[in-house]
Amino acid sequence: MYLKFLLITFIVHSSCLNLLDICQSGIRDDGINYVHCARKSLTEIPHFSSNRLFNLAFDELILSDNLITHIHANVFNGLRIKRLIMSGNHIKSIDENAFRELENYLEELILEFDSTIVDRIPQAIQTNLINIKSLTLIGLNLRTLSSNIFNQMKKLESLTLKSCNIQFIEINAFNTIDKHLRYLYLDYNKLNEKIFIEINRLILLEKLSLSHNYIQEFDIKLLNFNLQYLDLSYNYLKKLILINMNNLQILNLQNNLLTSENIYGSIPKQLKELILDFNSINIINKNFITENNSLEFLSVQSNEFLLTNSNIFQHLNKLKKLNLARNNIQIIPKGLFNFTPSLEDLNMDRNPLLSLSIDTFSGIEYSLHNISCQSCSLTSESLIAFSCLKNLQRLKLQSNLLTNIYPENLFSSMLKLHVIDLQRNQLIQISSEFPSSLRELVLSNNRLTILPFNNQTFQQLSQLITLDLSSNPLQCDCHIKPLYYWLLKHFQSELVPYVQWICSKPEYLVGKKLGSLTEHQLICQEKEISSFSVWLKDSETIIIEWSLTSLSLPLKLIVMENNNLLPIINLNKTQNYYVLENLKSSTNYSLCLQTNEQYLCRNITTNNQQYISLSSSSSSSSSSAIIDIEYLIIGITIGIIIILLILFILILFLIKQRKQYPHSLKSTTIDSYYQTTGSDTTQIATCNNSIEEHSIKSLKHHQSTPIFCYCQLPSNYCQDQPSYHIYHEIPLYNKPPVII
Ligand SMILES: *[C@@H]1O[C@H](CO)[C@@H](O)[C@H](O)[C@H]1NC(C)=O
Ligand SMILES: *[C@@H]1O[C@H](CO)[C@@H](O)[C@H](O)[C@H]1NC(C)=O
Ligand SMILES: *[C@@H]1O[C@H](CO)[C@@H](O)[C@H](O)[C@H]1NC(C)=O
Ligand SMILES: *[C@@H]1O[C@H](CO)[C@@H](O)[C@H](O)[C@H]1NC(C)=O
Ligand SMILES: *[C@@H]1O[C@H](CO)[C@@H](O)[C@H](O)[C@H]1NC(C)=O
Ligand SMILES: *[C@@H]1O[C@H](CO)[C@@H](O)[C@H](O)[C@H]1NC(C)=O
Repeated sequence: MYLKFLLITFIVHSSCLNLLDICQSGIRDDGINYVHCARKSLTEIPHFSSNRLFNLAFDELILSDNLITHIHANVFNGLRIKRLIMSGNHIKSIDENAFRELENYLEELILEFDSTIVDRIPQAIQTNLINIKSLTLIGLNLRTLSSNIFNQMKKLESLTLKSCNIQFIEINAFNTIDKHLRYLYLDYNKLNEKIFIEINRLILLEKLSLSHNYIQEFDIKLLNFNLQYLDLSYNYLKKLILINMNNLQILNLQNNLLTSENIYGSIPKQLKELILDFNSINIINKNFITENNSLEFLSVQSNEFLLTNSNIFQHLNKLKKLNLARNNIQIIPKGLFNFTPSLEDLNMDRNPLLSLSIDTFSGIEYSLHNISCQSCSLTSESLIAFSCLKNLQRLKLQSNLLTNIYPENLFSSMLKLHVIDLQRNQLIQISSEFPSSLRELVLSNNRLTILPFNNQTFQQLSQLITLDLSSNPLQCDCHIKPLYYWLLKHFQSELVPYVQWICSKPEYLVGKKLGSLTEHQLICQEKEISSFSVWLKDSETIIIEWSLTSLSLPLKLIVMENNNLLPIINLNKTQNYYVLENLKSSTNYSLCLQTNEQYLCRNITTNNQQYISLSSSSSSSSSSAIIDIEYLIIGITIGIIIILLILFILILFLIKQRKQYPHSLKSTTIDSYYQTTGSDTTQIATCNNSIEEHSIKSLKHHQSTPIFCYCQLPSNYCQDQPSYHIYHEIPLYNKPPVII
């Protein structure tokens, strides 16, 4: 760096051939020829005249923000500049004869000094600037502004002495210039209210700026009538008396110590702008704002300002801009804005307990263009208050507690809306209903995963230039494609990969920037419908059950009754079942779930009241079940036949035995079928004879277990039928033992 300085200095000193490389020259819109040599690390003022190639006919020379510390005599030789700007240098000394060559031309001069060295206005400035109209001196260490110091400057209109440590202004300090000075800026000094005596001599003064001084009290009566602009911000004002300032248009009193009790008088009739920010004013005195005033801008930011009743703004019918930020306002009285029908711009930022209702903004429905309600703890329910603002252009609701937009079409009726700022909320969902006038949509720092934009919505939002989605957990799947295409189309291709739209799903894309992905990476792996089943409850009721992987998409049920389409049902996504009632029995139904991506169907046939059956689209499984049952029945039948055959054989065998032994008749006992060792007297049956009894007996005789005896014949049957009939009949039925 140091080498570079040396080099430049050397070039400038020796030949100045490179002056054209160091400085740019041109013509500004207002027709002024300028030479611009700012921020070139120059340590000396270049010798323009020694460069023959350089066009010396220019009006303005800008040498600001260099390292120039000394202004030599004759250094501007040959120049005829009107304006010389040297702010941002730390001038340590000025030759007594400096500027003399510019004496007839120089009208405006801006100089900045090294305050540790220069403690008075240099002689060259006092004597050699006789045509100067505007003088700005920054960073002198003056303490006192001496008498007659501007005596030579017979044309001075604008004087700025900024950061000059002025504590006192001597009598006659503004001598000579008091007849023509119109603008006086004495900001960043140590002046108190005593200065007003001297300032009052400036009979043509239009603008006075005294910000960042030590003024404690101000009786504006002292000031002359012509003053239009007064800046007393950043002082220690405790008391203000406002009387008779009939030309005053702008009054800035911000950052003082004013309270409602210590403001006297009323605002001047012509006052258009009143800034009272950062004071302790909680109410506006009754007479402070009079009838027929001209106030267009009122700012009472950070004052604990109270909106006590609805008529506190009653004479502000010309008000266009109102700043009520940082006042801890909780309730806006009903009808407050009925008194401000011209209001275009309203700032309510940082009133953290603000509550809004549907009629809060009544009276300014059509006038309001800008509204800002940042950090007001607004919830989605309070959004309804904004719905009446038909001509809104800018809506700033950042840093609130919004989770969704309600009503969904809130913005779509604001046909002039340019800017919506919803950053730093808790938005999970956002509707797609925006007016086509929208240019800027800021949604950063929310919880949005899926956005409702498709190609069509983007087509409608043809004016959209800025879309901020940074710091949202985006789901980078097939649904985000329209957004991806928009990104590619609206950002410079070099910048697209760096746009901070970060994916948080699917897992393999976590942390990736959407712009850094390719189209093929944006796929929907998971199906939205992860399960879908259909049950018959009875002949007229079907239960549908499903589960979804994402709740953000619409879900529809399409029902076909014998191939006739029934009305489409919009299902509640948060539930996972639905009951279709009053259906026709014995009818084919086709039930289809539809999302944007998927269409899934199940077929079912209702029954005719007999039994509950379950069926699904795959009917083959039920038919195979039927086949299985058939096999089972056949098996059982064969089994029974075989057992019967065995019984026959046994009975045959028994009969053969009976022929050898005599009959035991009359009373027989029935044994428990499972009793293998019981006596004959366990139970006495009324029935005399039965096949079973005998067969059991016979079985018992033969010590075999009656496992297959499971039915007992009715007793009547037994009584009606003589046992011998059976005995006689059995041989008739008896077939030759075809056995096993
Ligand atoms: C305000 O103006 C109206 C008509 O323009 C006039 O009748 C009324 O007297 C004025 N009020 C004051 C206090 O000047
Ligand atoms: C609305 O805000 C913008 C940007 O802050 C500003 O340029 C514009 O002048 C404002 N409109 C009104 C009517 O105050
Ligand atoms: C959306 O637009 C992109 C290009 O802008 C195109 O490739 C894509 O096919 C479109 N998608 C639909 C569903 O129209
Ligand atoms: C959807 O179902 C949920 C849970 O049963 C219920 O809280 C919600 O109100 C329902 N929404 C609609 C629109 O029916
Ligand atoms: C129902 O579907 C079955 C085939 O699954 C078909 O045989 C029957 O004719 C259908 N009934 C009606 C009423 O369409
Ligand atoms: C369900 O029924 C419809 C006609 O109602 C038919 O087109 C479709 O193929 C059937 N689906 C299945 C899985 O049987």
